[in-house]
Amino acid sequence: MELLNRPRRLRGSSVLRKMVRETRMDKSSLVYPMFVMEGTNLKEEIPSMAGQYRYSVDRMEEKLTELLDAGVTSVMLFGIPGEKDEMGSGAFAEDGIVQKGFRKAKEVCPDLYLIGDVCMCEYTSHGHCGILHGQEVDNDRTLEYLARTALSQVQAGADMVAPSDMMDGRVAAIRRKLDENGYVNTPIMSYAVKFASSFYGPFRDAADSAPAFGDRKSYQMDFHNRREALKEAMLDVGEGADILMVKPAMAYGDLIREVKDRTNLPIAAYSVSGEYAMVKTTAKAGFIDETSIMCEMAVSAFRAGTDIYITYFAKELAKCMDEGIIG
Ligand code: PBG
Repeated sequence: MELLNRPRRLRGSSVLRKMVRETRMDKSSLVYPMFVMEGTNLKEEIPSMAGQYRYSVDRMEEKLTELLDAGVTSVMLFGIPGEKDEMGSGAFAEDGIVQKGFRKAKEVCPDLYLIGDVCMCEYTSHGHCGILHGQEVDNDRTLEYLARTALSQVQAGADMVAPSDMMDGRVAAIRRKLDENGYVNTPIMSYAVKFASSFYGPFRDAADSAPAFGDRKSYQMDFHNRREALKEAMLDVGEGADILMVKPAMAYGDLIREVKDRTNLPIAAYSVSGEYAMVKTTAKAGFIDETSIMCEMAVSAFRAGTDIYITYFAKELAKCMDEGIIG
């Protein structure tokens, strides 16, 4: 049979398949999200996220060194405060939980790159991502609190800040605050394209941050929208963002690609708690293979255009890269 084009020719051996691979990854792209909590000598498993823990500050070192040993060089910290209040004042307190976490991480693992998630929802008694005016989140008033939160994290040792609140104008407000205080070279990774998503369910258990009333749909994006994702991305470019994030990752590959092609900033994708929990529970039930599904999800995010992949599987993925299972 005369057949000039035989795509199978390039699939004939493992060496050849690797030679022609289009998507290549590196451990330096991985970021591990980690939860720190008040208290001493605590390492508590998060019920909705098997294998993930909340650490008290004095127990962080074991996890941080484990990550570094695996070749994961960046961590994103989330704080779970002992007390919450209306204004979320724990978010920007000098001795707030995440600030203590940054100081500790810098002290015990100075080589680790530290990223701060900037938001109010873990710290407010009502669980919303900003300051309330009645039942509404007051956008403009929240900006000052977010900027203070970002500054306090950087002062405590964060190398980069990542606002996840979805208020309008927050990148500009944070940039201005950091610059006024001399932190002109501290990058901002904006959660630019963040959807109101049910994939965050397990995280809200982990951080005890579910809103006490209503939902986040008046600030996080409607997942039916594609053009609006570009609008958000372009606004953040204009406000001085250094890196743009799309979140969640798995169901949003189209937007990772779109934002990648239409901007010239590095793109981060956050494979969120619900993605993790789905893999863990389905694998535990014996219906899928955890490692291969985890790898396939990661490759799909990179293939879509991800430069920085934020994932609870960071250490396990690093191992798979070392072993050549993906790469
Ligand atoms: C804080 C924040 C959330 C996540 C990251 N930062 C929760 C939310 O917006 O409700 C979700 C992360 C995850 O699900 O893994 N606003």
